[in-house]
Amino acid sequence: MPTELPSIILDCDPGHDDAIAILVAARHTRVLGITTVAGNAPLSATTRNAIIVRDLVGLAAPVHSGAERPLIQTPKHADYVHGKSGMDGADLPEPSGPPASTDAVGFIIETCRANEGTWLVPTGPMTNIALALRAAPDLKDRIAGISLMGGGLFGNRTAAAEFNLWCDPEAAHIVFSYGGPLIMAGLDVTHQFQALPHRIEMVRALPGVLARVLADLLDFFSGTYTSRHHGIGGAAVHDPLAVMALTHPELFTVKNAHVDIAMGDPRTMGMTIIDQRDLREVPPGNCEWLTHVQADAAWDVVVEAIAHFSH
Ligand code: RIB
Ligand code: CA
Repeated sequence: MPTELPSIILDCDPGHDDAIAILVAARHTRVLGITTVAGNAPLSATTRNAIIVRDLVGLAAPVHSGAERPLIQTPKHADYVHGKSGMDGADLPEPSGPPASTDAVGFIIETCRANEGTWLVPTGPMTNIALALRAAPDLKDRIAGISLMGGGLFGNRTAAAEFNLWCDPEAAHIVFSYGGPLIMAGLDVTHQFQALPHRIEMVRALPGVLARVLADLLDFFSGTYTSRHHGIGGAAVHDPLAVMALTHPELFTVKNAHVDIAMGDPRTMGMTIIDQRDLREVPPGNCEWLTHVQADAAWDVVVEAIAHFSH
């Protein structure tokens, strides 16, 4: 376990699994801020949801809203997984107020310049991150790196592409070619981390509002997953793995790989082209690719975080 908490900015589109990422980040990192992006739901919904979850875990970090649409592609959402609100399935409190600003990109730039060694942790379409990297190329040498949820060996929104990268493949290409440290939690690792019934019961057994709300959210999330998949035991809880890659690296198996992003052809746009050839001509790796997670131990991290904030 790292001795000093990593400082992060969590860029997200809550989103049931983004909510769990906020929880784990609040427990195990120094959250300098939460920035929001359109993705699972429109920006107004993802921002509202981020504020609600931040309040529920008692985090003091500001929420700044960002891009309401991808760089080039038309906005697309995932109400078929997360519901119209982006976080259906629970009786949620009202947000404590509006976002601190609507300038997530400016917040990311200013905060990373003022706090050398910050990690950027995107768990939605990477529009805000790409805009920040383009507006402030010096961030490459100021941030500790980018730990993202997205991509992988297979798709979910299309056969080839995972939702976050499919939404904004041009932003993903900017991120994957920025030249600094990059960690990828793709679908091949996140599908190992499912909200199985007994795991949700571990959450529901905890006292307090936070545990009840998260258990209800996980039940809803798992319901849409099991209704859409043939053989899955519960929702793949994707996003917290991008945080745990920084806070609990011992739970993961990692491979250095060269990853490029497909753009253009709608059949493959957003695909992560992971070069697995055993050839000298393969370019040097640009990404630490998470290939395995100790799922039970990682779930214990989630349960402990909920218990911690439930006193
Ligand atoms: O494909 C899964 C990703 O898309 C997760 O981040 C989920 O929250 C959605 O944003
Ligand atoms: Ca997300």
